[in-house]
Amino acid sequence: MKNEIIKEFRKLFHKEPEYIYFCPGRVNLIGEHIDYNGGNVMPCAITLGTYLAVSRNIDKHFHFRCLNFPEVADLHLQSSYSKTGKQWFNYPLGVINQLLNEGHGLAGLDMLYYGNLPIGAGLSSSATIEVLTAFALNEMFLLSLTRKELALISQKSENEFIGVSCGIMDQFAVAMGQSNKAILLNCDTVEFEYIPFDTKEYVLAIINSNKQRTLAESKYNERFAQCGEALKMLKQKLSIRQLCDLSVADFEINNNLINDLILEKRVLHVVSENERVKDAVKALKNGDLDFFGKLMFASHQSLKELYEVSGKELDAIVDICKSFNGCIGARMTGAGFGGCCIALVENSKLEDFKEKLMLSYTSKIGYAPEIFSSLAGDGVREIK
Ligand code: GLA
Repeated sequence: MKNEIIKEFRKLFHKEPEYIYFCPGRVNLIGEHIDYNGGNVMPCAITLGTYLAVSRNIDKHFHFRCLNFPEVADLHLQSSYSKTGKQWFNYPLGVINQLLNEGHGLAGLDMLYYGNLPIGAGLSSSATIEVLTAFALNEMFLLSLTRKELALISQKSENEFIGVSCGIMDQFAVAMGQSNKAILLNCDTVEFEYIPFDTKEYVLAIINSNKQRTLAESKYNERFAQCGEALKMLKQKLSIRQLCDLSVADFEINNNLINDLILEKRVLHVVSENERVKDAVKALKNGDLDFFGKLMFASHQSLKELYEVSGKELDAIVDICKSFNGCIGARMTGAGFGGCCIALVENSKLEDFKEKLMLSYTSKIGYAPEIFSSLAGDGVREIK
């Protein structure tokens, strides 16, 4: 991969890249749609991701190129930028804009991106571009920002520049990942702990439903708004700051404060998912993967029925996983509305699993899924 991107960089810019950086994608093991409600989440970085080959230039421009997309941009160095259209280069541009807004001095760059993650499949391809850009600029211009700060800058850019009300989970996971570890992140305080993610005789399979995530952004923002509305109603009587300040038991006593069935379901998902994460931590610490797997299935059920962010494709995958003897847990991962599922599958049965899943999914849905496996990997870094 590294040699290929260097070759392409030379062709495009007629010089050598000064640096190559890599940022992995992420899966969320458990704790879905609760990062923007102050909850606990448990993502890990994976081994696929996005590369950046980059060099300074003297023509005071940002030249954006990407091997995955035909669109290019050549923008003169300015003191700020705004979003143009929906093209991919808005993601690095938003981060550049955020760094400039915070008073960091930058200079022109030739930048070539290439990703081997399925794009828009819920593995955080957008967060990889953001964090990769922030990390590269931090190193090249000696900005002295910590990884945590780079994640927060990237999230701010996604919220304000791109216009998606996402939480901190994705940017944090891809910035802070460590091999063989899950990250337990408290999204309220941004405190975190690495949890050994030892899958023993199981592998972590990632299954891309290949369902296009159309409307995902607007539905995501709608869920974000519904949580805000429910919080307002609960706050009339309860002294809470965020939905995840509530336990399931507290919510059940006070659910009459919410006079809307849909909002009630949303909150029930949020508070129960937050408790599942706490149980999942115990399960991993005790080496009880079976229980961890059960929590994955329960999480999916709640996302399907209460939060309503799954869909027939993701549900089909989880149903097939449930009926496969050798899969102990599966769930959708990320925002939903299409995208990917994760599953824990017995190592020795992986090939059989792939075959069965491929056949049943294709006959149910009409097109094939993509299945690969991944280890928990390290976060953003320079590739020497
Ligand atoms: C997307 C967002 C995250 C998180 C997940 C759902 O990936 O970017 O912040 O909300 O959805 O858990």
